Amino acid sequence: MPGGSTYTGIDFAENLIQEGKQLFANQNIAAEFICKNVNEYTVESKYDFVICQAVLRHLDDPVAFIRKMISFAKPGGYVVCMDVNREFESCGLYVDGMDYRELCLHEGLEKKWQTELALQGRDYSVAVKAAHILESLGLADVDVRMNDKVEFMTPKHADYEEARNDFLRANQWTSCMGQGEENALILQLMTHGMSRSEAREYCLRNRRIAEYFSSNPAAEYSFARGLLIAYGRKM
Ligand SMILES: C[S@@+](CC[C@H](N)C(=O)[O-])C[C@H]1O[C@@H](n2cnc3c(N)ncnc32)[C@H](O)[C@@H]1O
Repeated sequence: MPGGSTYTGIDFAENLIQEGKQLFANQNIAAEFICKNVNEYTVESKYDFVICQAVLRHLDDPVAFIRKMISFAKPGGYVVCMDVNREFESCGLYVDGMDYRELCLHEGLEKKWQTELALQGRDYSVAVKAAHILESLGLADVDVRMNDKVEFMTPKHADYEEARNDFLRANQWTSCMGQGEENALILQLMTHGMSRSEAREYCLRNRRIAEYFSSNPAAEYSFARGLLIAYGRKM
């Protein structure tokens, strides 16, 4: 954004607010961070850009959330929703040295996503629907882009260690689960639509990936996340 821009970050998770504050500390950027529920938040001075990232997919009512975002925008301001479609995301992983067919297996996951949608309203494909929601809520010039960045990581990259750690942490591949923890996850996946054998296979696959990274400190990987960016302008 142009120099002199100000930024406001909002999330109801205190740890993410603290992380945001640390990222912006000493950067000479006017930023404030607010730990609040967006749905219960109101603003007096409105914004040129209202952006959410990786949030809609977790909500039971993404339309209400986007309506709230629109209420934060100035007339002429942009509302931007960035999210992944779980199906694209699940096809985009390659770890050099591992069997690609296994890495991109969806088995059981579709049932999990559909169960979450039916029981909780959490929509695994909200990213491809976001532009339609923006248009239905009256925004103008609605369009969608896809972030073309593929995370291609080898030890030759200066930020390999940091990127790899973030990547493993985000996917919970930092360590192998103990048996008790794995049994609890299998039961949880079964209440989200998977059969016992699908849940077991899912845990095994995660265990194999975690073990591969832990025994290969120079493992190379690529991840095409396919982040969709839907946006529109408030009239
Ligand atoms: C997957 S995280 C993404 C975090 C961050 N936007 C990013 O891109 O790294 C989803 C976040 O949405 C936040 N969230 C979900 N519903 C919210 C709400 N109603 N108000 C504020 N934050 C919310 C959660 O606390 C969580 O931190």
